[in-house]
Amino acid sequence: MNYRHAFHAGNHADVLKHVVLLALCDALTAKPAPCFALDTHAGRGLYRLEEDQARRTGEALDGISRLGNGKGAPAAVRRYLEAVAACRKQHGTDAYPGSPWLLAHALREQDAIACCELHPEEAAALRAVFRGERRLAVHERDGYHAMRALLPPRAGDTRYARGLVLMDPPYERQLDEFDAVMPALREGLVRWPQACLAL
Ligand SMILES: C[S@@+](CC[C@H](N)C(=O)[O-])C[C@H]1O[C@@H](n2cnc3c(N)ncnc32)[C@H](O)[C@@H]1O
Repeated sequence: MNYRHAFHAGNHADVLKHVVLLALCDALTAKPAPCFALDTHAGRGLYRLEEDQARRTGEALDGISRLGNGKGAPAAVRRYLEAVAACRKQHGTDAYPGSPWLLAHALREQDAIACCELHPEEAAALRAVFRGERRLAVHERDGYHAMRALLPPRAGDTRYARGLVLMDPPYERQLDEFDAVMPALREGLVRWPQACLAL
């Protein structure tokens, strides 16, 4: 596993993915019932655009940096920029939020989030970001297998009627990763038909 998302954080693909992720969270939280989110390929949760890895590729320059202050942008993009600004207020001006951070930001007290990350260092970093956050559980495990292990979601007496699965693989296993996603998503839908699945 060579992929490190720190080289790509804030690039154009992150911008699109994170705009959509927040829009999905906002739709899910329009009703008061608790929801559950499963992030199958979570990454480290928080990135630094001024650190070596991000600077080496410069990918954020063609992503988040091009949006400026978002004046005149569609509401969903402005919503995303507000979330990034909230992250920077908390973590510093070069911070960039990963999908777990955005989920924790957009979901509510009554909601729950499970994040899977297979790389031990990334999982440890993710745990450190969310230490003390009781809504969010970090699982150092294979995100594809989690579709079977963690769905349908349950917590004590809580049955989550609403929720979201974000599947964001690195496509590093070039020969079979595209083949792995569809069966995993199908299994997720069978186990939790109400879920919104985003690949
Ligand atoms: C594209 S990045 C995730 C970015 C993150 N979703 C975000 O938007 O901030 C993919 C992550 O999946 C991890 N990964 C790779 N294979 C995995 C697997 N089978 N299960 C869980 N995580 C995996 C990688 O270590 C990497 O951190």
